[in-house]
Amino acid sequence: MAEHDHKPTGHERIETNNFLMIVLITLVVAVGGLVEIVPLFFQHSTTKPIEGVKPYTALQLAGRDIYIREGCYVCHSQMVRPFHAETLRYGPYSVAGEFVYDHPFQWGSKRTGPDLARVGGRYSDEWHRIHLINPRDLVPESNMPAYPWLERRQVDADVLPGRMAALRKLGVPYTDEEIAKAADEVRGKTEMEALIAYLQSLGTARSWDKLAQPSAQTAQTSPAAEAASTQAAQ
Ligand code: HEC
Repeated sequence: MAEHDHKPTGHERIETNNFLMIVLITLVVAVGGLVEIVPLFFQHSTTKPIEGVKPYTALQLAGRDIYIREGCYVCHSQMVRPFHAETLRYGPYSVAGEFVYDHPFQWGSKRTGPDLARVGGRYSDEWHRIHLINPRDLVPESNMPAYPWLERRQVDADVLPGRMAALRKLGVPYTDEEIAKAADEVRGKTEMEALIAYLQSLGTARSWDKLAQPSAQTAQTSPAAEAASTQAAQ
């Protein structure tokens, strides 16, 4: 049979037709993507806060805005990955339920500096103050920029009720009362105080201590983290 007489049949028809191939690939990828992604919007593990996670207070929220304004996320991630080396250094790996009130989240992936997902409670407020005014005073080899103006500037209190009302629309359960007194709560506070309040709140709902019960062994490494690090080492 001569080649031009050959009529493609079945799968061959798709393989020899660019247009059909593109349409079908798009369809397969779209359906596959939907099946993987859509259920995440309804799963409790991704939509419900874990125990101990609360909406940011007005002061912490003001600090979070400063964190974003100053571009801290350019050098710092906020996500402990499920690898042994990470959990040893930073603490328990991050779970989705820790970030349900973060709009937008600050996970990031660029790590010029250390991950900050669990920095809350690791240092004193005074340590942060000195560090932010001039990192070199505490860590001589640090290349983190200095942020001395945070100490001199006051938080813009009047924008907070609006910010909180907007977050409420996105699902953060602020009460009318919390929104009403937000501005008074932060008035007169410095940007430094707000940023430190935010940093001290990070990651505290999930720690080795809280995961320790009932057996002390599980506190050291979670099975998932162990499995992930074994896999990574292979
Ligand atoms: C140019 C990159 C860069 C930027 C931008 C930056 N940092 Fe850092 N940061 C670092 C580096 C590097 C370190 C490690 C050395 C040190 O402790 O100073 C660090 C350390 C830290 C630490 C101590 C973490 C730990 O576990 O020891 C905190 C807290 C911190 N930064 C907060 C901030 C905040 C808040 C901002 C924004 C106002 C910021 N950083 C902006 C690079 C950066």
